[in-house]
Amino acid sequence: MNLLDLIHRTPVPAPWSEGEKIPWSDPAFSERMLREHLSQEHDAASRRSFIIDQHVDWIYRELLGGNPTRVLDLGCGPGLYTSRLARLGHCCVGVDYGPASVRYARETATRERLACTYIEEDVRRAEVGTGFGLVMMLFGEFNVFSPADVDALLNKAHAALAPDGWLLLEPHTFAAVREEGLRPCRWSSHEQGLFSERPHLYLEENFWDEAQRVATTRYYIVDAATGQVTRHAAHMQAYTSDEYSALLRAHGFVGVRLYPSLGGQMQEGLLAIAAQKRAGAEQG
Ligand SMILES: C[S@@+](CC[C@H](N)C(=O)[O-])C[C@H]1O[C@@H](n2cnc3c(N)ncnc32)[C@H](O)[C@@H]1O
Repeated sequence: MNLLDLIHRTPVPAPWSEGEKIPWSDPAFSERMLREHLSQEHDAASRRSFIIDQHVDWIYRELLGGNPTRVLDLGCGPGLYTSRLARLGHCCVGVDYGPASVRYARETATRERLACTYIEEDVRRAEVGTGFGLVMMLFGEFNVFSPADVDALLNKAHAALAPDGWLLLEPHTFAAVREEGLRPCRWSSHEQGLFSERPHLYLEENFWDEAQRVATTRYYIVDAATGQVTRHAAHMQAYTSDEYSALLRAHGFVGVRLYPSLGGQMQEGLLAIAAQKRAGAEQG
């Protein structure tokens, strides 16, 4: 699009109408994002190593009772959780559609001979298999899927789990999603950045749809040399704690437990939810 298209944009976006997410699966973007995942300066794409160590320790000791199992990580990024869990004796399958992240995860597994397999694909389409003792989706990605996708993903997770297996989610709190949608517009200029290697303007616009309880973020990347505008958008669905519990129960999970954070490591705006597939439940 060009600058005039930007000026003539729809003033207020309809929830789920403006595209999916930031371009995780774009190869060049994924290379740049990998640097952010691995950075020990911030917790933007993945948490820093010492925090992930504590999360993994909690998953292994508290959630799984110290028993190695088969783990499926949906949206595994560079395999920072799966690699650690494999070092503790778990067999892991990671799914992610970011090519640089999956390459990094596979290289780690090969170098260390870890029992990890990675599938480079959209989690909504990937064939993940069955018999897992733990299926997880961490670091807020849950809310970026539409309600229809969430429904299908929870069915997929349920089918992938062995009876008594655990589902572990780390979604956003209702307040955090709402706050995101109510954030004022902002802009910045960059010689290079996550969204482009070239000099550009970064424009961000946020919206909160009170009726559907959806936050929308629009990103406009304006190339300094050409004036061309690249547009991305992401939506986030807000759920209350009761709604999360009801959603999991409706998908056949029992014993839903809500934690104020994953592994006691406070992360503003996120909570952790664990639930089990009922023993004797049909494998889908
Ligand atoms: C915020 S990052 C978290 C990565 C990892 N869970 C962690 O905490 O280190 C979200 C990840 O989900 C992946 N992702 C998002 N939507 C996806 C989809 N539809 N299919 C596969 N991967 C997806 C992205 O590529 C990214 O690696």
